[in-house]
Amino acid sequence: MSLLEKSELIKKEFETDHLAAIDAAKPEAVETLRLAYLGRKGKLTALMEDLRNASKEDRPAAGKAVNLVRHHIEAAIDELKSMARSWELAAIVNRAPIDITLPVTEDRSVGSIHPVSLMRQQLIKIFRTLGFTVVDGPEIDFDFFNFSALNIPDNHPARDMQDTFYIDGAEKMLLRTQTSNIQIHTMMNEKPPLRVIAPGRVFRCDSDMTHTPMFHQIEGFVVDENITFAHMKGTIDTFLKAIFGSTLKTRLRPSFFPFVEPGAEFDVECGVCKGKGCRTCKDTGWIEIGGCGMIHPNVFEAVGYDSSRYSGFAFGFGIDRIAMNRFALPDLRQLFEGDYEFLGNFPIHSN
Ligand code: DAH
Repeated sequence: MSLLEKSELIKKEFETDHLAAIDAAKPEAVETLRLAYLGRKGKLTALMEDLRNASKEDRPAAGKAVNLVRHHIEAAIDELKSMARSWELAAIVNRAPIDITLPVTEDRSVGSIHPVSLMRQQLIKIFRTLGFTVVDGPEIDFDFFNFSALNIPDNHPARDMQDTFYIDGAEKMLLRTQTSNIQIHTMMNEKPPLRVIAPGRVFRCDSDMTHTPMFHQIEGFVVDENITFAHMKGTIDTFLKAIFGSTLKTRLRPSFFPFVEPGAEFDVECGVCKGKGCRTCKDTGWIEIGGCGMIHPNVFEAVGYDSSRYSGFAFGFGIDRIAMNRFALPDLRQLFEGDYEFLGNFPIHSN
């Protein structure tokens, strides 16, 4: 038999033995196969020996054929070796099936809900039960929606009340300073009757114990025929009692906001001292929550509503301030520092 024929035959035999080793799926079968071909007394080793003794004329062609077979066998065995590792793992897993009833022993940390999210969820729930729908709107907005359409024209001193972040290079664009911009977006897109709240982030250039450059507000408004100040008072009283407890008093104080007339601020009795005066309420007996009022006719004009037909009220307040009060937090900035130790004190689920 010529060397060429011999190497063809060995290749064929190897195919059969190779398949048998895969079938066996055992690391020992791979080792046996390796020894049978590449070992000291292996078939391929013998073939290499024959090649060394071949005549000068035969050697180039036979050498090429034998080397091809050798590469083929070596590569196939390498591949089998890595398969053998997964066979071993499979054998271990099959021997010891996983007991899913075993308790987990490692200390797994579980996340919790951020206090601002908890508060927001709770507030949204209250307003939903009062028939309000929740809307969203842009955080980066045009001056028009945040100021002008809300009856705060250029150069109006009320613009100084809110230290605005303007967008560099974009004329008349800013980070909204109040969620009141949603009043304009919503009213421009929809017709009364409206009963809407808009929770969201707002931005002001301010930072100390009770101010952060980003904070959360909820804006609410109701527009329909015959909406009165009494509707507003009832709504605000109901939501404050739902959040702070029904035994605490609430009150409205006259105040000014350009987009409402008349305007007011609303307070809740201090829960710590029950109105007697303490550090939390700075001895006033009251905690200030937000602003409200009857929507100014100029706002209705700006959005194209007929102010002789429709009336409405609006209110806005900070979610973080309420969270601070409800969870007795001394420093508002704690809410935004991402400190796990602090955040871990809050529940995992909201209810
Ligand atoms: N947007 C006001 C602020 O951020 C809060 C506010 C006051 C909203 C009176 C209102 C309102 O809708 O009627 O200070």
